[in-house]
Amino acid sequence: TVSFRLGIAGLGTVGAAVVRMVERRRAAFTAAGLDLRVTAVSSRDRTRDRGLDLAGIEWFDDPVALARSGSVDCVVELIGGAEGPAKAVVEAALDAGKPVVTANKALLARHGAALATRAEDKGVALAFEAAVAGGIPVIKTLREGLPGNTISRVYGILNGTCNYILSRMEREGLTFEACLKDAQALGYAEADPTFDVEGFDTAHKLAILTSLAFGTAVDAEGVSVEGISRVQPLDLRMADELGYRIKLLGVAQAAEAGIEQRVHPTMVPKSSAIAQVMGVTNAVTIDADAVGELTLIGPGAGGEATASAVVADIADVARGVIRPTFGIPAAAMRPSERVEMQRH
Ligand code: HSE
Repeated sequence: TVSFRLGIAGLGTVGAAVVRMVERRRAAFTAAGLDLRVTAVSSRDRTRDRGLDLAGIEWFDDPVALARSGSVDCVVELIGGAEGPAKAVVEAALDAGKPVVTANKALLARHGAALATRAEDKGVALAFEAAVAGGIPVIKTLREGLPGNTISRVYGILNGTCNYILSRMEREGLTFEACLKDAQALGYAEADPTFDVEGFDTAHKLAILTSLAFGTAVDAEGVSVEGISRVQPLDLRMADELGYRIKLLGVAQAAEAGIEQRVHPTMVPKSSAIAQVMGVTNAVTIDADAVGELTLIGPGAGGEATASAVVADIADVARGVIRPTFGIPAAAMRPSERVEMQRH
């Protein structure tokens, strides 16, 4: 039996769901030879009632101290944000030679290559299934599922909040603002919803997918981005009359000059598979030479679905499935060549 003591940094919607899921699935993991348990947690607010039984679990006010704690074998970073405590805790864990599981797309989009180098240097895994498309195992698919393929394009609906807003605006004729409020209340949106609605969250996720699909260093700066905050109910009605829906898509494709990455509201024919994806659901399509077109559809946000991806990574790291060099190519790899986007 492999014993793995988990330190969870960040007890928001996802962190709390991970604590519950590890407990709920204990018997199944034990049967599979894994003794997983949460031994430490950290969060900003100790007094908040999360409906969790934290008896016997060590509490840290400082996530970096949690990362360095002798009672933690694997650090699960669910704080969020590209800098600050999230970055500090991931670096501290890697430097201490501990594997890291993170859901932090912003951190990976900005520092993915440097963190991958650090993980490789220390010989520990850096796992990030939950960073892209919530509960959909798209990182695993790209990392492990298609070695015989050359991928020419990856695109999809990568932000649940935007798809939820656009779906409700279309179906119920509601305003953008009203739908955003509901998405926030349901816990889909980022702490700063600008990240969602202006397309940056999609861009971060796209940059991570691009890196895996094309074997390039993460380049979020190279993504051309336009969000949905200027989409009006009228735009949706016009599109509808013409037989289209409007979706916020992230697209990465191999072009002659390099890899083209873009995020923008896109008209998709109502008959297409991607147009059927409504609500907080995400979808990722991979165009590859051997398999042709592969589409994964599933929940893109929410505590349980995202925890599902986090727990998958934890199990894979514990079993040694995810190795240090098995993810985002480290800085040594060629950076993606940017294609300057034509503005319409
Ligand atoms: N705010 C994100 C979304 C959460 O709405 O998709 C998952 O990354």
